[in-house]
Amino acid sequence: MKKIMVTGGTGYIGSHTLVDLIENGYDVISVDNNSRSNPAMLRGVEKITGKPVKNYKVDLCNFDDTFAIFQENPDISGIIHFAAYKAVGESVEKPLMYFENNLVSLINLLKCVQEFNVPWFVFSSSCTVYGNPDHSMVTEETPPKPAASPYGYTKQMGEQILGEFQKASNVQTILLRYFNPVGAHPSALIGELPIGKPQNLVPAITQTAIGKLPKMMVFGDDYPTRDGSCVRDYIHVCDIAHAHTLAIQYLEECRNNSGCEVFNLGTGNGVTVLEAIHAFEKVSGVKLNYEIGPRRPGDIVAIYANNDKAKSRLGWDPARSLDEMMDTAWRWELKLKNDEQMFTSAKSELN
Ligand code: WQD
Repeated sequence: MKKIMVTGGTGYIGSHTLVDLIENGYDVISVDNNSRSNPAMLRGVEKITGKPVKNYKVDLCNFDDTFAIFQENPDISGIIHFAAYKAVGESVEKPLMYFENNLVSLINLLKCVQEFNVPWFVFSSSCTVYGNPDHSMVTEETPPKPAASPYGYTKQMGEQILGEFQKASNVQTILLRYFNPVGAHPSALIGELPIGKPQNLVPAITQTAIGKLPKMMVFGDDYPTRDGSCVRDYIHVCDIAHAHTLAIQYLEECRNNSGCEVFNLGTGNGVTVLEAIHAFEKVSGVKLNYEIGPRRPGDIVAIYANNDKAKSRLGWDPARSLDEMMDTAWRWELKLKNDEQMFTSAKSELN
C-alpha cells in the first residue's frame, strides 16, 4: 500500500483529501502544526473512513523537525503539499509572513524530497497565479500576469521553484491550480473551519446565516461584471480532493508526459458573489443579512477555469453543483453549532 504524506492534513482541503486517498486504498500520514487548523478534524476523517490517521504536529519551516518525519517514514511514495497561508486580504497586510511561511516550508520539504528520493510531488497551487487575466476564462497555458496579492506571488514562486527543482531532480511533479474550493463532505463530519473571522466568501455566508456574524459585507458591486460583483469559479471541496487522488494515480501509472505538469481545478462556470449569496438563500431558506461595501485590496475582477486538460488527462469529472456546495456548507455550519464543544475542546488541549 503506497504511503502518501499530506501536509496541511488537518486543514480544509487536506482533510477531505485524506478521506479520498484512504477510500482509494492509500496509506496516509498528515503533517500539520495546527496554526490554522484544528486537530479534531482528523476525528472526522477517522469516523468517515474507519481508519486512524497520524498527524505530525510539525512546522515545516523547522527543517530538523521536518527531516525527522522522513527518517521515521523512509517509505513515502508521494507528497501532497497543502500547508500554507492562503488569505488574499491578510497577505496584503502581512506580506513577509506569507513569503516566509509559504516559501521556507516548501524549500525545506523539497530538501527532504531530494534526500529521501521521494518520487511524486503534488503542489497545492491556485488560480491566483493568473493575476487579473485579460480574459476571464483561463487555460493552463494562459500566461501568468503580475499576482494581485503577496499570496498569489507565493503560489507563482512556488511553481517556479518546483519547475526548476524538477529539472534538477527526478521527482515527478504536478501543480494543481484550484479555483475557489467551497462546501463540505456530505457526512458533515469535516468541513471548513476558519480560525477567527472568516476571510473567504462561503464561511462568511454560513456564519452570518447561523448568527455567528451579525452581517456580512459584499466587497464591491461596481466591478465590470454582469451584476457588479466579482466572478469566481466555485468548486466543491470533494471534487478538489478527488483530483488529488487522480493526480497521484496519474503519477503512479507514469502517465505524465513531462516532469512537471499543471492542471486547472475548476468547474468552468463563473459565478458572481451576489449569485452565490442568492444560491445559498435558495438552498438554506435563510435570508442573508449583507450589505455592499468597498472593494477588497488584492481582489481580481473575474476568473474561471477551462478544465478540459484535467478532465481529459486526469479523468476528472467535477459533477457537484453550486446548490450542493451551498447545501453541504450550510449543513456543516449547522453541525458545528451542535459540535462546537468538540472543536473547542480539541483546540484547548493543544494550548
Ligand atoms: C471570493 C469573492 C471577495 C468574503 C480564495 C482563496 C485562495 C484561493 C482562491 C485556493 C471575492 C468576495 C469574500 C466576504 C466578499 N484558493 N467576498 N465578502 O479571494 O477568490 O481566493 O480562492 O488556493 O486561497 O483565498 O476567495 O472567498 O476570499 O473571495 O464579498 O466576506 O468573495 O471579494 O470577490 P478569493 P474569497
